[in-house]
Amino acid sequence: MDKVKEHFDEEAEVFDKTILKLIPFYNDMIGAMVSAIPFKNSKPIKVLDLGCGTGNISKAVKERFPDARINCIDLAERMIKATQLKLSAYDDIEYHVADFSKFEFTDGYDAVVSSLALHHIATNEEKKDLYTKLFSALKEGGVFYNADTVRGSNQYLDKLYDEKWTSHMFKNLPEGEVTGKWIPKHEEEDFPVKILDHMDWLRGSGFKNVDVVWKFYGFAVFGGKK
Ligand SMILES: C[S@@+](CC[C@H](N)C(=O)[O-])C[C@H]1O[C@@H](n2cnc3c(N)ncnc32)[C@H](O)[C@@H]1O
Repeated sequence: MDKVKEHFDEEAEVFDKTILKLIPFYNDMIGAMVSAIPFKNSKPIKVLDLGCGTGNISKAVKERFPDARINCIDLAERMIKATQLKLSAYDDIEYHVADFSKFEFTDGYDAVVSSLALHHIATNEEKKDLYTKLFSALKEGGVFYNADTVRGSNQYLDKLYDEKWTSHMFKNLPEGEVTGKWIPKHEEEDFPVKILDHMDWLRGSGFKNVDVVWKFYGFAVFGGKK
């Protein structure tokens, strides 16, 4: 986790530009996740944003739910600072510099959202444990949605997903940066799993209506309801 924290502390200032060069259809993916939250826009929902980064997801949530109260959690202090700046117009956001795997979720949430963060959890056991904790942290009828990178179900698809991802990066970034920085970082810091494993673990943690609401090869938005 130290490497992940260091990486995102370093990237905080340039993150918003870089993420579009790294992730295909990033804005569409976030839009799909926020539209899956099944409440009236006027409801003062309580939301948890895990690995909030620079606050893009929380901002999109506030744009759809102006009365939402949001808890933003991120390991990297500089990312939280960027979120505070982006959301400075709002006074109903709480900020926590913390590891979401160790965080005690005390409030009841209407929605838990996370984007491009949970694949940093190293083991399947820790991933499953977090799903179980999130299920407990949700109110009855609450939802959890995760926008994240996933692996293919077989070797062919896995390779295809990688090719689709790297061709997006090669279009937007110098070749040396892709091969010398982003691919090695991915190999060192990212632990994505198959989407069908996520579905099983979500159901196993008690989630209902488990579904994939958006997908582009190795990028997907999925989740369920309590
Ligand atoms: C790729 S960024 C995504 C940021 C944001 N969610 C978005 O999609 O724009 C991943 C973020 O997750 C945070 N992160 C990774 N592991 C974490 C953990 N265990 N606890 C809290 N934050 C974590 C990183 O610090 C980083 O800010």
